[in-house]
Amino acid sequence: MRIIKESILRDVRVKGPRPLKADFHLHTAEDPNDRVSHTAKDLISKAADEGFEVLAITNHQCLTFNQRLLSYARERGILLIPGMEINVHHRHVLFLNPPNGKKVSDFSSLAGLRRPDRLIMAPHPYFPNPRSLNGYLLKNLKIFDALEYCHFYSPRINFNQKAVAVSKFYGVPLVGNSDTHFLPQLGTTYSLIYAEKDPEAIFQAIRQKKIEIVTRPLSHREMGTFLGRFFSMKLPGKKGGSSSQEGIHSTRRFRLSLPFRGAPLSLLLFLSSYFGDRFDLF
Ligand SMILES: [Fe+2]
Repeated sequence: MRIIKESILRDVRVKGPRPLKADFHLHTAEDPNDRVSHTAKDLISKAADEGFEVLAITNHQCLTFNQRLLSYARERGILLIPGMEINVHHRHVLFLNPPNGKKVSDFSSLAGLRRPDRLIMAPHPYFPNPRSLNGYLLKNLKIFDALEYCHFYSPRINFNQKAVAVSKFYGVPLVGNSDTHFLPQLGTTYSLIYAEKDPEAIFQAIRQKKIEIVTRPLSHREMGTFLGRFFSMKLPGKKGGSSSQEGIHSTRRFRLSLPFRGAPLSLLLFLSSYFGDRFDLF
C-alpha cells in the first residue's frame, strides 16, 4: 500500500458522489512508439488491485480500446475511457474519447473537435522536453479543458510548478496523472473525481474542478530508475508486438545495469533531455 504524503489542489469541497480514483495518462505494450512491457490487461489488473475505478489508456497516436478490453475492465470495477496521446505540431496532447479516424493536423482543427463528451488535456505541459507544449499552451489555452500534474518530480525538481501557476491564473483545471510507462509508476500521482461513473459526467466534473490530486514526490532513486528505464526504452531497437489488438503482445524488456539507476545520473539525464531533441519523450 502506497503512503500518500501530499495532497494538492482542493479547489472545491464537494458533497455528493464519493470520489473516483482515476488516471487518464497511461501507456501499454500496444503503444507503437514506446517499448512498454505491460499489456493493457496487465495495467488494468494492477490498477484494479490499487482501487482505481477510471482509466484511460493513452498510447501515442493509437487507440487501445475495444469491447473486450472494456469488458475486462468492467469486470474489475473499472470504467475504461477511450484515449490517445496525439501529436499536434509535434507536441503531445491527451485526447479522451477522440473521434474515430480523424486526423488532427493543427491546433485549429483540434479546437473544432471540442465537445462536452470529449476532453482535451495538456500532458506535462512545461517539462523540458521538445514534445511538451511549452509555448504552444498559452497560445492555444482555450482548446484545453485541463492541464496535467505529472507524477515525475522530486522535492527539489518539479516541472509541474508552471502548470500550477497557469492553472491558478487562468482558472484551468489541473488533473493528476502518472504517464505510466512502467507499472511501479502507477499510483504515484492520480486524481479523485467527484462524479458519477460515466465519461461525460467525469469530464463535466473535471471542467467544474470537482477534483483532487493525490500525489507524492518521487525519491531521487525512483527518479533515476524511471528515467534510466525510460531512456533505455527510447533507444533505437525493435518494437515488440503490434498496436492493433487488446494487448497480449509481449515486448522485449530492457534493464539497465545498476550504475544507470543512481540519482547522480538522473540529473545528467535531465540535462540531456533538455538539450536533446532526438528523443520523443514521455
Ligand atoms: Fe505519455
